[in-house]
Amino acid sequence: MCHGAAARACHVRYPFFPACGAGPGTGLGSIQSRRTPVRRAKISIIGAGNVGATCAHWAAAKELGDIVLVDIPDRVGVAQGKALDLAQCGPIERFDANITGTSDYKDTANSDVVVITAGMPRKPGMSRDDLIGVNVKIVKDVTEQVAKHSPNAILIVVSNPLDAMVYTAWKVSGFPTHRILGQAGALDVARFRTFLAMKLGCSIEDISSLLLGGHGDDMVPLPRFTSVAGIPIDQLLSQADITECVERAKVGGGEIVKLMGTSAYYAPASGTIQMVEAIVKDKKRIVPCAAYCEDEYGVSPGQKGKGYFVGVPVVLGSKGMEKVVPIKMTGDESKLMAESVSHVKDLVATVQKMFPELA
Ligand SMILES: NC(=O)c1ccc[n+]([C@@H]2O[C@H](COP(=O)([O-])OP(=O)(O)OC[C@H]3O[C@@H](n4cnc5c(N)ncnc54)[C@H](O)[C@@H]3O)[C@@H](O)[C@H]2O)c1
Repeated sequence: MCHGAAARACHVRYPFFPACGAGPGTGLGSIQSRRTPVRRAKISIIGAGNVGATCAHWAAAKELGDIVLVDIPDRVGVAQGKALDLAQCGPIERFDANITGTSDYKDTANSDVVVITAGMPRKPGMSRDDLIGVNVKIVKDVTEQVAKHSPNAILIVVSNPLDAMVYTAWKVSGFPTHRILGQAGALDVARFRTFLAMKLGCSIEDISSLLLGGHGDDMVPLPRFTSVAGIPIDQLLSQADITECVERAKVGGGEIVKLMGTSAYYAPASGTIQMVEAIVKDKKRIVPCAAYCEDEYGVSPGQKGKGYFVGVPVVLGSKGMEKVVPIKMTGDESKLMAESVSHVKDLVATVQKMFPELA
């Protein structure tokens, strides 16, 4: 028989094997007793709305770990219902994961990765920046709880306006900068690749690209770093066609808000889970993310501790943001990047003015 913490671990992880921890000759239980228990990654997703629930869906389908879906007490039934509904896909889609819904942050304790999607989405006619007042407050409250219960987690912020929310999560959590990331670039580059594939009539799989800067209108497209099966994009498409794809990617979120009356969620969640997967599998993937920069990309040269979270390519692995990958930019690209960084600085200044405790 198992006792104390070991027994609890058995019941959580291996309820099917009551012999766990027994002596020699008891089969699988005796093998497990000699090993340090290997546990699944624990992924908590805050906000069980469109983006949060879809993140849970992709994470479960990819069998990335156990999932805790959190919402406010008024919507705990929604979080629990979605978790149960998703768990019931397991036998069909063939994934093993404990999926729970809750409004109690104790259930998120010791998460490896926490995704923050709590907050209001855009309505038609709104810019992402219009959400700042209401969402800073939400992300602040949520981050306090997350940091208390999962002090070693890697945080991925999704709530908008993204760059301001990442800053808020950093200030409130006090986490080292490599454990704070924002999701925007993974989505924006996926949108750009989608529009290129539509234009070319080729497989999306063959298109590789990169971009920098803020979310949407502020993105810094990099057609020079875009290729199709290794062939530079400008050998396959005219400049006008490339520009059309860039412009459509920039307003890709707004296009969907106009159609649906709320913001996108399949692709934003997919981009977020690409980041989670790179972290929990220690893949060392290079993904454009909102990541902390000081000297990098000329964000705050020489100003220790006075950096900003901006969209740059980073190596994602088990430590979170493991490295900012530098690239050589042209004069035009540097100018666009400087404009994007300046917008992030303005957003952060607005947050600091509204919430002086976050300065
Ligand atoms: N970064 C991106 O690429 C990207 C893309 C799409 C949407 N977003 C942003 O993600 C956020 C969520 O969008 P959505 O479409 O899922 O909205 P939604 O309204 O469907 O879901 C938001 C959820 O957050 C919950 N919530 C609110 N306050 C909370 C709190 N204090 N604690 C826990 N949960 C709380 C709500 O109850 C709701 O269930 C928005 O801010 C949106 O703008 C970002």
